[in-house]
Amino acid sequence: MNEQVLQDTARRLVSGDKGLLAMDESNPTCNKRFANLGIPQTAEARRAWRELIVTTPRLGECISGAILYDETIRQQKKDGTPFVKVLADAGIIPGIKVDAGAKDMAGHSGEKITEGLDGLRDRLAEYVQMGARFAKWRAVIAVGDGIPSQACIDANAHALPRYAALCQEAGLVPIVEPEVLMDGAHTLERCGEATEQVLRTVFYQLYVQGVVLEEMILKPNMVLAGLSSPRQALVDEVADATVGCLLRAVSAAVAGIAFLSGGQTAELASARLNAMNVRFKSRLPWALAFSFARAIQQLALENWQGKEVNVPAAQRALYHRARCNRAARRGEYSAAMESE
Ligand code: G3H
Repeated sequence: MNEQVLQDTARRLVSGDKGLLAMDESNPTCNKRFANLGIPQTAEARRAWRELIVTTPRLGECISGAILYDETIRQQKKDGTPFVKVLADAGIIPGIKVDAGAKDMAGHSGEKITEGLDGLRDRLAEYVQMGARFAKWRAVIAVGDGIPSQACIDANAHALPRYAALCQEAGLVPIVEPEVLMDGAHTLERCGEATEQVLRTVFYQLYVQGVVLEEMILKPNMVLAGLSSPRQALVDEVADATVGCLLRAVSAAVAGIAFLSGGQTAELASARLNAMNVRFKSRLPWALAFSFARAIQQLALENWQGKEVNVPAAQRALYHRARCNRAARRGEYSAAMESE
């Protein structure tokens, strides 16, 4: 019974041409983004921003699921309606970020290990009671001189399935997110090697720990050159490198793939997802969807600036990006959409 529900939820999250909206920034990350735009870093400002997002008209046309943060899943609209209910009424499945953040890894300078397994079973039970139907855990892998180390890859690849197994036990679909970071001057090829190594290790551990692949979604990075690399690949090169890497390392059984945006511009994230679907969609075992945070939210945040009067413009910007990514899932996104 539980298994059928989990498979149905996983399929719904990536079905058709919709994708996920990650609105699960921790308070410090959300505050940092607010600070950059001169928006007050208060609980009320964060609540107002989240209300703006979840009440965006027609969001459910493009978004299948929204990933919330612990503070956000407990918040409500000004009129008292819980955000979880607002999302469910819009046909959007509520999810929750459950990791406790990436912390410095002892003895491994420049590398991180994601924490949050202690007490996770109890927290998951509470989130299920609150209406969450899926969860997310993010591991981060840096690329640089001599890194990623095998120790960092192994430690993170071990934590992800432990989290995923607990989710499935609790009745939540796990979103497994091993993110190879864009920071640095590395080449696209180096990112591809690291991503493949990480994914192969993660999938081996998912197998060892008995995670049901049909009841999970993979949230990977695209294969990209580092942000400060002098040679940035063409859109089609990114599509080919990313899909090739996934085909070699990801089991065909997973319910779907939903990319993170990772600091790409919103337009490039849409264009690259579009190219993957144009070039490969008909011959892939999984849907290629999106689970973007910055690439959907940033333009809207810049429009909002923390002011009530800007809410309609910000919501239009949010809907626009969600719509562009829906088109990218169909392979129908074009730069012309940006001026519509
Ligand atoms: O964990 C990261 C988010 O879920 C995705 O964020 O699209 O800004 O990389 P991003």
